[in-house]
Amino acid sequence: MRLQGVAFRVVSHPRVNRLQTAILGRHKLEARLRPVAERSTNGETLGTVVDIGGGTARSRAMWPASWTYYSIDPDDRVLAVDEQEAPIERIVGDAARLPLHDAIADVVLMQCVSHHLDAETWQRSLVEAERILKPEGSFIFLDGVWSKRRWVSRWFWRLDAGRFPRESAVLEDALRSRFSIVETERFALVHDSILVTARHA
Ligand SMILES: C[S@@+](CC[C@H](N)C(=O)[O-])C[C@H]1O[C@@H](n2cnc3c(N)ncnc32)[C@H](O)[C@@H]1O
Repeated sequence: MRLQGVAFRVVSHPRVNRLQTAILGRHKLEARLRPVAERSTNGETLGTVVDIGGGTARSRAMWPASWTYYSIDPDDRVLAVDEQEAPIERIVGDAARLPLHDAIADVVLMQCVSHHLDAETWQRSLVEAERILKPEGSFIFLDGVWSKRRWVSRWFWRLDAGRFPRESAVLEDALRSRFSIVETERFALVHDSILVTARHA
């Protein structure tokens, strides 16, 4: 049990996560996210992004440096990892109880986080994402999904610190229950993945 705890601390470390995401196809994933991020600014020079479970906040550079960027993550080890040039407001916190005001965000990003959330936290995180999103704001959701027929993917999920990978339909149903879906992209990296842009229902 102790060994499991130590192994979890290692595989969930922000720097190990960077290596892991590189193996899982970070650059291809970024190529998908970048145009969506660009569109989400609507050409505005000022705005606010809230990156739920932001980790190292690797996507910070996709939004203008003039935008406010919050990264909310329960793992305080991310506070020691600051490789970004643009400013980041890092907050140690939980997706289920975001320490932010209602309607604060032009963009809420949840990238590669849902597979870390148990059923209750996942549901609460969507309530919270909806609460902090401005009326005209965009919710951007991105994650790998559980796919029974892909053994390589199944094997990588076993090594992941996130214990709750879900099937695409399960994730999409949950998103649809709180938001209006604008666009869904599906693509295969090591994991089948979905990139969903949504707005208030
Ligand atoms: C795979 S990493 C993704 C980090 C970042 N979003 C990215 O794409 O690089 C998953 C992150 O989810 C965070 N996380 C786990 N449980 C969480 C929770 N209850 N609320 C918010 N973040 C959580 C972890 O600490 C970790 O930083």
